[in-house]
Amino acid sequence: MIKAVHNSELWQRLHSADHGVIIVVGTGQWGKTATVHSLIDSGAFRDRNVALVKYSQEFIEAHSYPDNYRAVPWPDDISDILGILHPSRDVVVVDDSIFIAGARDSGTRENKGLQKLMTIISHNELFVILTIQNTSMLDISMFQSQDVYMIHKNMDVVAIEQERDAQKISQTIANLYLQRKMKDYSGIVHPKAWGYCSTTREIIAFKLPSWWQPAMSKPFKGMVMH
Ligand SMILES: Nc1ncnc2c1ncn2[C@@H]1O[C@H](COP(=O)(O)OP(=O)(O)O)[C@@H](O)[C@H]1O
Ligand SMILES: [Mg+2]
Repeated sequence: MIKAVHNSELWQRLHSADHGVIIVVGTGQWGKTATVHSLIDSGAFRDRNVALVKYSQEFIEAHSYPDNYRAVPWPDDISDILGILHPSRDVVVVDDSIFIAGARDSGTRENKGLQKLMTIISHNELFVILTIQNTSMLDISMFQSQDVYMIHKNMDVVAIEQERDAQKISQTIANLYLQRKMKDYSGIVHPKAWGYCSTTREIIAFKLPSWWQPAMSKPFKGMVMH
């Protein structure tokens, strides 16, 4: 069976929620960024605007993103975030969130900021989507909320070794399911389209939005991140 995003339980839950954190995890180039845009394009967040953190506005304008996409900075003081975002009207995307939330620099201003953002999420009608190659890179506090939805893309075996203990099992299960689907639907569904949602326990086919361009995989190309 091929379950499209709009037919998934994940879609139903997001569509009827007013806040939450969606984490898309998997090895580089396995379709995390594409999955984020596919999920948004499915209408799961209704007609919310999309705020891409630390993307450049020039990059967004140079590519065929929908009109409701915009670049937002990461504020120096997270308390200012509500001046940049409109909780009930935005979905915030923190793509490659390692750049602002590395667990190894848990004392950094950005990481404290992300923790504070999690608190803001639970008190406001805000959705945040994070992509990351390995959850060991994220601060544990991200997972303590009940409103976290986890989507697994394929992960290299070596990378699974680095995973948090609690994630090793669900990622191993995810890989098995994903590889099975890739095999069964080879030539029918693009192998990178599949994602396993461990929150709703289902495999979803995330197809590319009609406006997708390959360059959208590299939003930070040439940018110095700090
Ligand atoms: N659902 C999909 N269908 C077809 N191709 C895909 C799909 N998802 C990803 N790809 C291909 O893989 C490339 C890398 O995907 P991307 O989302 O940028 O990976 P990641 O963010 O994990 O590094 C994309 O540019 C695209 O060419
Ligand atoms: Mg990416």
